[in-house]
Amino acid sequence: MMTGIRHNLLKCGFVFFIVVVQYAHGQVSYSVQEELKRGSVIGNIAKDLGLEVERLSARKARVFMQGNERQYCEINLQNGDLLVAERIDREEHCGEKPSCVLKFDLLLESPLELHRLSLQVQDINDNAPVFPKNTVKLEIRESADRGAKYRLNAAHDADIGKNSVESYILEQNPHFVFGIQTTSAGRKYGELVLKQELDREDQQEMKLLLTAVDGGSPQRSGTVIIHVIVLDANDNAPVFTEAVYTATIPENSPMNTKIMTVSASDIDEGVNGEVTYEFSRLSDKSRKIFSLDEKTGEISVTGDIDYEEGHKYEVFVEAKDGYGLSSEAKVIIDITDVNDNAPVIYINSLSNPIPENVPPDTEVGIINVQDKDSENNGQLHCSIQQNVPFKLIPSIKNYYSLVTTGQLDRELVSDYNITISATDEGSPPLSSSKTVQLSVADINDNPPVFEEQSYSAYVTENNKPGSTLCSVTARDPDWRQNGTVIYSLLPGEVNGAPVSSYVSVNGDTGVIHAVRSFDYEQLMNFKVQLMARDNGSPPLSSNVTVSVFISDVNDNSPQILYPALEGNSFMTELIPKAAHGGSLVSKVIAVDADAGQNAWLSYHIVTSSDPGLFSIDVHSGEIRTQRDISESDSMKQNLIVAVKDNGQPSLSATCSMYLIISDNLAEVTELKDISSDEKNSKLTSYLIIALVSVSTFFLTFIIIIMGVRFCRRRKPRLLFDGAVAIPSAYLPPNYADVDGTGTLRSTYNYDAYLTTGSRTSDFKFVTSYNDNTLPADQTLRKSPSDFAEVFGDCDTSPEV
Ligand SMILES: *[C@@H]1O[C@H](CO)[C@@H](O)[C@H](O)[C@H]1NC(C)=O
Ligand SMILES: *[C@@H]1O[C@H](CO)[C@@H](O)[C@H](O)[C@H]1NC(C)=O
Ligand SMILES: *[C@@H]1O[C@H](CO)[C@@H](O)[C@H](O)[C@H]1NC(C)=O
Repeated sequence: MMTGIRHNLLKCGFVFFIVVVQYAHGQVSYSVQEELKRGSVIGNIAKDLGLEVERLSARKARVFMQGNERQYCEINLQNGDLLVAERIDREEHCGEKPSCVLKFDLLLESPLELHRLSLQVQDINDNAPVFPKNTVKLEIRESADRGAKYRLNAAHDADIGKNSVESYILEQNPHFVFGIQTTSAGRKYGELVLKQELDREDQQEMKLLLTAVDGGSPQRSGTVIIHVIVLDANDNAPVFTEAVYTATIPENSPMNTKIMTVSASDIDEGVNGEVTYEFSRLSDKSRKIFSLDEKTGEISVTGDIDYEEGHKYEVFVEAKDGYGLSSEAKVIIDITDVNDNAPVIYINSLSNPIPENVPPDTEVGIINVQDKDSENNGQLHCSIQQNVPFKLIPSIKNYYSLVTTGQLDRELVSDYNITISATDEGSPPLSSSKTVQLSVADINDNPPVFEEQSYSAYVTENNKPGSTLCSVTARDPDWRQNGTVIYSLLPGEVNGAPVSSYVSVNGDTGVIHAVRSFDYEQLMNFKVQLMARDNGSPPLSSNVTVSVFISDVNDNSPQILYPALEGNSFMTELIPKAAHGGSLVSKVIAVDADAGQNAWLSYHIVTSSDPGLFSIDVHSGEIRTQRDISESDSMKQNLIVAVKDNGQPSLSATCSMYLIISDNLAEVTELKDISSDEKNSKLTSYLIIALVSVSTFFLTFIIIIMGVRFCRRRKPRLLFDGAVAIPSAYLPPNYADVDGTGTLRSTYNYDAYLTTGSRTSDFKFVTSYNDNTLPADQTLRKSPSDFAEVFGDCDTSPEV
């Protein structure tokens, strides 16, 4: 190339040199451009030194360079020109020296003459800048900081001054700039300066072209390729695929259930990119139930997961690369509820026992139900069984009131077992139940109740005082003293005497005792009011009537009303001689104070002076002739009649009857005989008179009574056919009904027969005593002695 340039210069004919002749210190200096072609004229010595040209060859003028074999110059001896004898390379001789001077000696002989010549070699831009290598390989760690400097050998240009390297041009790039530095020794070097960090992961290598240009004209340049290899640095932390991971698992998930996998990647290489996982922040609780696979990032269950203990876990997972760069991600694990908790029932309060008289809708207890589960799994329904008079009323959340729905009755149900069940809405639902025992407390709400509406006691008369009549029982279903029954007699009167003088009652047992001995003939029955009272406060009571019926004992003998008593009177019946068989002659009238069978009388002839002549009707006591009377029959006839009752044993009475067969009262004189016979004869006439008057009195009395009665009541008429009614005054007291109800039992109905003693007339009066004919207020109370007064003492003797 240099030669090329040189050629061009010559072709143009442009002589490119300057010859400067200097005589400083006897020296002549020339200046010449390097790389001139051989034969180029540097200067003319002869002229410059004043030498004769013709003598040059004679004096053998010649130049030689001190200390150098190479002879760059020669002298043209014909004209004295100094010529370039050989190409002069300034760089070869002077290198980088800024001035390059070659020294020559000019030698002349005859006479020997020495001149010093110096040749200043002028540089031309004949060299391009050159880098030591075509390619520079630079390995730079990506972690290098901004401003880091990398030394490069500078380009070298053999030319000097302007012609040497003037500037560098670095290919446009984002990372580096190029600068030139000079060492303290003055050496120049290049510096690649990092102006922006490298990223291997972004660009692993780059090739930059660096061009060095010199300042010559024409300009020359040299290039080098800087091959930058970016070395990896652990500059990348692992990066999770998500900042926050979420997962949902049901509670009670079994061990080793996989929950999720976290994943982080590290774009670094090798160890720098090996990622391991671990929990970074973890509560003690979480530590027990979650595990993380170090290599795979899989999170799984290692403990019991209970929604009720925690339903959201936040754990932090750290991913680390081989040199410890790490990053963190959050993992949110939501636990979903499973219906694994049965409801629990709590009895918050309970009134026990509850009085049986509480009104309906009374609150007796408060119940609370709880379920640890959430949402539907914890939604509860509470109920109790149907067949109890209680219900649950929902109150504030999960609280219930247990209230009564109806009236309670301890006497019907005294204890309730109330089963409360609670069920949640889970699927499947869970339920539980609890039984509450509730007692009903007693209230004295039941009066004692007698087992029967009324009681009847039957006692035979002549009982022993203190004997038991009957017992009453009243029941009271209440509890303890509220149900304890005490019996007592209500005050009252029987026959004008306090009832307590008749009976007494055992307060505890209800047994009724007779206080005295009863007499049927005096008192057939009576009523007593009893009260049964409980011991409650206030007490309740009820009353009952006890009717005491006294039954008859055959303790009264028949009493013969007619004929009058033997010994005291003298009774005679007249029988016409013409009387035919079957004629009624007389009649025995008797009564018995007893009742029923005991008063059922029968008549018998015990002895007769003429057996076969008379007969007596066993029931009516009528005495009739059995045959016609004949002349041969004795005028005086005697009969002894016995009257027996039907009691067991039966009692009887006897009486004598005197009969006279005569048509003629005159013959009655003979009665004196009879009377004298009978010791009572003198009384006969009085007796007859008395009888007649008594009969008349009876008759009148009855007529008056009946008349009064008939007029007042217009009630049943008495068939009064010459008959005589026995006034009630003559009847024993038991003929009247003492209970005042007016009911006379049929057994008390009697037929009474009475004759007046007339021989011819039959007096017959039949009546049935009933309430209408004989009001209770007309009851005559007579003691047996009263009868004795009236009837005298009839001969009574029990018939064996
Ligand atoms: C209630 O339960 C108790 C105890 O189990 C039992 O003794 C009692 O008889 C029960 N009562 C009723 C009314 O069922
Ligand atoms: C009896 O009833 C009363 C209320 O009438 C009540 O206060 C009392 O407790 C009851 N007695 C018993 C033993 O139950
Ligand atoms: C029972 O009789 C007594 C006295 O006559 C009376 O005071 C009381 O009220 C009666 N009791 C009943 C339940 O009738």
